Amino acid sequence: MPIRHSIVGIDSPDRLAAALQDAQYIADEGLSTAAYLALALGKPLLLEGAPGVGKTEGAKAIASILGRQLVRLQCYEGIDAAHALYEWNYPRQMLSIRQAHDEYVNIYSDEFLIARPMLDALRHPRDTVLLIDEIDRADHEFEAFLLEFLSDFSISIPERGTVRATEHPVVVLTSNRTRELHEALRRRCVYHWIDYPHPALEAQIVMMRASTVAQDTANRVVAAVGALRAEPLAKPPGVAETVEWAEAATLLNHQGAPWPAAFRRAIGVALKDHDDLLFMQPRLDQILDEAAA
Ligand SMILES: Nc1ncnc2c1ncn2[C@@H]1O[C@H](COP(=O)(O)OP(=O)(O)OP(=O)(O)O)[C@@H](O)[C@H]1O
Ligand SMILES: [Mg+2]
Repeated sequence: MPIRHSIVGIDSPDRLAAALQDAQYIADEGLSTAAYLALALGKPLLLEGAPGVGKTEGAKAIASILGRQLVRLQCYEGIDAAHALYEWNYPRQMLSIRQAHDEYVNIYSDEFLIARPMLDALRHPRDTVLLIDEIDRADHEFEAFLLEFLSDFSISIPERGTVRATEHPVVVLTSNRTRELHEALRRRCVYHWIDYPHPALEAQIVMMRASTVAQDTANRVVAAVGALRAEPLAKPPGVAETVEWAEAATLLNHQGAPWPAAFRRAIGVALKDHDDLLFMQPRLDQILDEAAA
């Protein structure tokens, strides 16, 4: 089978994982395999997972190792095609018509076209990675429109005709799974659920992202965060919170706060919900003691 998006020297999931690690991103076997297959088969990669598990960062790392620019479309409730595709620059068109007097102006030339992420990716499929971030926030209509886009990678601009990609661009979609995505959309993609990382991997991420943190501290934070995630919290800490908690506690420790008080005092970077804080307050010391053991 031909490799659609060949990357020099990357001919297996393991090699992809190594390249991602060079780009400061740790991918386990499941993720590196899904990403490798998506690239090799020329299919979009759909990453689902809880907040803060590294979905967006994963797309950035893929763009980085491919040496491409990441073009990001952030989805939200009410997003429509104009935000995703293109818009005409009306004020500029008006100004040009006024300044042209009687001369002809093509107000539908490139000069007046504002390309949004999806058109950008179609026009430069070799130079970009298109990230469609948090697709679950968009409504069903937009999802249907997206499905069409992912089927034939072409866009119709009524004033200009059809723009078709010369090859399939690399596309990464992410979802926090606040709602189920359409079956048809999933079918188009290679799917991977990103779980919270294994403790050893999460400690590795902490060490990689926060250079001031000692291995011991990283291990403790990871153990404490693991215990917090086992609780019924409204906002369980993501990987970003783990990294920040380790950094913040290290800072306080350097300023004289002993362990585990440094962790306790820096709790505001790990738990960011008042009810969660109140709920955990009575058990926090025990969790921190156990994490140190
Ligand atoms: N596998 C990883 N390797 C390296 N760093 C990671 C990894 N996973 C998460 N991180 C760190 O966690 C931070 C948050 O990750 P990211 O923003 O990608 O999460 P997300 O899943 O997109 O969250 P959200 O759903 O809130 O958008 C990143 O900036 C990075 O520092
Ligand atoms: Mg994200």
